[in-house]
Amino acid sequence: MCGIFGYIGKRSDAADIVFEGIKTLEYRGYDSWGVAALSKNNIFVQKQIGKIGDATLHTPPLSSLAIAHTRWATHGGVTKENAHPHLDCTKSVAIIHNGIIENYDTLKKQLHGTHIYTSETDSEVAAHLIEEHIKTLPFSEAVRQTFLACSGSNALVAIHQKTNEIVAVRNGSPLVVGYGDNEQFIASDAAGLLPYTKNVHFLEDNEMAILTQNSIEIIDVQTKAKKKIVPTVLTWTRAATNKAGFATYMEKELHEQPDIMLNISLETTNATSLTKAIREARGTYLIGCGSAYYACLAGTYFFSTIAKRHINATVASEFTYQEDFINDKSLVIALSQSGETMDLIDAVKRAKAKGARIASVVNVEGSTLWRLSDLPVSCNAGPEMAVASTKDLTAKLTHLIALSYSLADKKDEGIMILKNASLETRRIISNQNVIAQLATQFVKKEHIFIVGRGLSYPAAMEIAMKIKEISYIHAEGLAAGELKHGTLALVEKGTPCIVLAPHDETYGANIAAAMELKARGAIIIGISHTKHEVFDHYIEVKDCGPATIIPTIVVGQLLALKITIEKGLDPDKPRNLAKSVTVK
Ligand code: F6R
Repeated sequence: MCGIFGYIGKRSDAADIVFEGIKTLEYRGYDSWGVAALSKNNIFVQKQIGKIGDATLHTPPLSSLAIAHTRWATHGGVTKENAHPHLDCTKSVAIIHNGIIENYDTLKKQLHGTHIYTSETDSEVAAHLIEEHIKTLPFSEAVRQTFLACSGSNALVAIHQKTNEIVAVRNGSPLVVGYGDNEQFIASDAAGLLPYTKNVHFLEDNEMAILTQNSIEIIDVQTKAKKKIVPTVLTWTRAATNKAGFATYMEKELHEQPDIMLNISLETTNATSLTKAIREARGTYLIGCGSAYYACLAGTYFFSTIAKRHINATVASEFTYQEDFINDKSLVIALSQSGETMDLIDAVKRAKAKGARIASVVNVEGSTLWRLSDLPVSCNAGPEMAVASTKDLTAKLTHLIALSYSLADKKDEGIMILKNASLETRRIISNQNVIAQLATQFVKKEHIFIVGRGLSYPAAMEIAMKIKEISYIHAEGLAAGELKHGTLALVEKGTPCIVLAPHDETYGANIAAAMELKARGAIIIGISHTKHEVFDHYIEVKDCGPATIIPTIVVGQLLALKITIEKGLDPDKPRNLAKSVTVK
């Protein structure tokens, strides 16, 4: 959620470095931002609400130590006062924080009202606690004691006017340190570090990092024991985080999908070990949130139709309430782009505590989920910067298809089908005219329904998700068979209904659903391998077997994107949403 960036080192423009650093983390979603830089006599602070894109830093001092933050409001409204960094009463301690200090009220009371608060946040109490502790303790110890007093999932980064170090500690919320040459970095997200270093360490829960110009010391926050760290080397390139000439990240990422599908199916699928794990398990459970959950749901169809196996799919935030049956024979496969989604991490930790084996298909290597997994498989989609998931979802679907064919001992058939689907996806991306025309008709609509049976059901849910999250039009994806059980009541003259009718056993029933909708006045947009007279508008998606779901979803992504652009909205940063959902 919130973005964090910190710098200490040989350069004297630390404030600018961290300001640029949080700009690269903009995609995470935020409503305000702030910078604190250590200067000779004080801590320079600039905070602002709104977008950072066009903002400038006003006369920052020469400084070799600075921290910056993008805030996504939880406690206290979107105001300049509530933006981070927060200072203590003496203005010599500055903190930035991600997460929720659940006992902040109790901690405030324990400070006996002797401190003056300037914000409504839970975070500010940490600055005042450090202020108290620093009266008798060294700075890093003051931060450690403060962190130990805070309950909840948190990442805290602190600086002190008289101490040339950045002290950071995490439990739950992600932090990653970057090792440079006479300079060190800290960020909430490894993508932000790419311009400076690829040598990083993802902090584990309860690890504390003390950054000075020449070193990063990692200690256990409970025992104070020093840890020996071998840095992880990031494989992503800096270029992967640029827009590559596209107007938005979403467009760029959407265009990358055909190649990603080929890379996964032909080279990088770690299907063998996962296939073995599934064969050995007594009960396999796919879990994920949002779009990742729709990939899980699609997985149940792939496993059933291709591998003739049953697999369960559950929304990760609900899995927690139905995992009493998990044991040491269970296999949980967690799907995630960020690998930091709090509800997913919680569910995985609980399943792990019950002895379950944990596999994951995750895009950010080294993320919390990656490290928690016994068998992590990389999505290999490269950094995904737009809030709405496109290429990562496609990568997950590709993995699940390849895995299902591998379970069925039909790997080559899987590769062929995915190749065809990649070609079809490329064709759709390069022929967007019909989709663009349709988008202009949808701009003023309040509701759009998307229906399909079988694999088209998760596809319908995903298309609806893309439309609502970036264009703000209410869209509902549902199993076509469910229409008559309630939702049909909402369909009236002119309601746009997208009917997914691929060349599979669901075709006839999907066309019947289209007829039913049309009889109530709906405008039917058919996405199918062949034209049908019931369709008012037709978008062709050629048959690619079970992998047809991917080009079908890509049509939905393009439609959502074009409606959004027509409406003058920014598809990369939808309101109220964040790329990485690290709070419950
Ligand atoms: C929708 C979208 C979200 C994510 C969800 C899970 O376009 O991006 O629904 O799929 O927040 O995030 P990850 O995959 O990071 O666990």
